[in-house]
Amino acid sequence: MAQEQETDAKRVDYRLLRRLLRFLKPYKFHLVGGVLLTLASSALGPLRPFITRIAVDDHIAKGDLDGLVMFIGIIFGLVIIQGATQYALSLLMTWIGQRVLLDIRNTLFNHVQALALRFYDTTPVGRIVTRVTNDVEVLNELFSAGVVLMISDIMVILWILTFMWNTSSDLTLLTIIILPFLLVASFIFRAKVRVVYNKIRQQVARMNSFINEFITGMTVVQLFRQEKRMESNFRAINQTHRELQDQSIMYYATFFPVVEFLSSVALAIIVWYASTHIGTGEMTVGMLIAFAQFTEMFFRPVRDLTEKYNTLQSSVVASERIFSMLDTKLTIDDAPGAQLFDELKSGIEFSHVDFSYDGTTQILKDVSFSVSRGETLAIVGATGAGKSSIINLLCRFYEYQGGEILIDGKSIRSVRQEDLRRRIAVVLQDVFLFSRSVEENISLGRNDISREEVIEIAKQLGAHGFISKLPHGYDTNVRERGAVLSVGQKQLISFCRALAQDPDILILDEATSSIDTESEQLIEASISTMLKGRTSIVIAHRLSTIQRADRILVLHKGEVAETGTHAELLAAGGLYARLHTLQFAQAS
Ligand SMILES: Nc1ncnc2c1ncn2[C@@H]1O[C@H](COP(=O)(O)OP(=O)(O)OP(=O)(O)O)[C@@H](O)[C@H]1O
Ligand SMILES: [Mg+2]
Repeated sequence: MAQEQETDAKRVDYRLLRRLLRFLKPYKFHLVGGVLLTLASSALGPLRPFITRIAVDDHIAKGDLDGLVMFIGIIFGLVIIQGATQYALSLLMTWIGQRVLLDIRNTLFNHVQALALRFYDTTPVGRIVTRVTNDVEVLNELFSAGVVLMISDIMVILWILTFMWNTSSDLTLLTIIILPFLLVASFIFRAKVRVVYNKIRQQVARMNSFINEFITGMTVVQLFRQEKRMESNFRAINQTHRELQDQSIMYYATFFPVVEFLSSVALAIIVWYASTHIGTGEMTVGMLIAFAQFTEMFFRPVRDLTEKYNTLQSSVVASERIFSMLDTKLTIDDAPGAQLFDELKSGIEFSHVDFSYDGTTQILKDVSFSVSRGETLAIVGATGAGKSSIINLLCRFYEYQGGEILIDGKSIRSVRQEDLRRRIAVVLQDVFLFSRSVEENISLGRNDISREEVIEIAKQLGAHGFISKLPHGYDTNVRERGAVLSVGQKQLISFCRALAQDPDILILDEATSSIDTESEQLIEASISTMLKGRTSIVIAHRLSTIQRADRILVLHKGEVAETGTHAELLAAGGLYARLHTLQFAQAS
């Protein structure tokens, strides 16, 4: 099962943040706008108590009511301007955030798409999906809310301190006595919550991969009556998740009252100071009101900052994972100056090819054979002999370690992969159809092909009959309910797809599963249509396909055991003759 790799209790890594900021570069002018708006809007709030003090001390206390009206107007105006800037700011930041996310997601998708198959062999599907969806989504919080609001919070705190200092330096010093206590409280809270959050994320990842595997394997789950066990497994994961959530809620429920308490203490200090100093003229009523408001304003950003640190931290974990996927360099690149390849002229040759998937287990050993233009080669051999691996190499899905694969006498490595794959059509052992229409599945490699041509191909291969009986004929979506195709039908569609490419080289990995006699005849007939006059390599299980081949290659544990025609190999009485007796003798 896909287990998420989790880094626990990670600290914020600023190098990563810098890398992340690179994605913000195209929007730097918007960002400058955002920063200006942040500066403006963060000052507007703390300005209010400052002005209130002037209004109280210079106008209310002195009975100057005309001046007071003006101050009320100013305060009212400030509130409106503050609302407007905040509105503009959050629109702007969400706008930037969404664009950055789009860019990151596209970059990630393109990168993953270009990776070699070896990456997909070793990376669980669930992990790739999580990267491109969830992890990018976590970054959303960072861009749309986190960073900007954090900057804004810090600005607000600085502005408040400035205004406080301007109002009364003594009282400011007294008030910030609370600060160390606040810092300690938020430090403890942050540390606790960080640990819980990491555990929660792990649990969510576990849940995702569990559900992923569960749904993929639904047939097996139901066949082998695993529902009860699955339920209890899921219940356990779910339960742990809930307990962790409870824990984090508990921390929040403790932290917020503590902040509230500290803010009350600060207020108490101010009131106490006022009670002893207002009489002496060192302090005014306006200052008392202003400071009461300042303390109130001061604690909110401090509390928010502590909370947002966690957002920041989980985005760092997410970006770390995204970047590590972006850093995966498992690609098979074209050699510099790779040549065009538009037509097969002489043929394909494997010359002493050695191959291993993982670098330790040798899969192909000294494999040599050749297929001339127009010839059909059948490869036969036991399961696991390495037949499909030969095809993987010919399609450049994997790099071979020894020997050389030549196309028209040139190394396959010197040919552009895109051209190579355009000229080779492969029918894989496991047919994969996209959830698109039948027609689109057939014309997959060629968007220039017309409906008439598609139908023509389907007729040639005997697929037209069943396709036209589907609910919407060629427009039927193959994944939709009611249009589920049988194995044989899917195979015929994949034959059509291969033929629609009009390939120079046809590769067919015949499925081992046998189907009913009628479809079997249909498939046999279409295979013979496809192979006619085409350079082809067929991994054959059907006697009819094998006999039709110009030459047969018998693969045994990754080595070429025999080659020859059907008659020659039978006469030789070797491995092929034995295979033939075992597999086909009773049938024929
Ligand atoms: N992607 C892969 N990564 C690692 N090992 C692999 C991979 N694909 C196949 N193998 C191993 O390579 C060996 C040959 O596999 P291959 O698929 O070529 O056999 P095959 O001859 O096509 O068998 P079958 O007739 O069952 O399709 C097997 O032992 C298999 O375990
Ligand atoms: Mg195979």
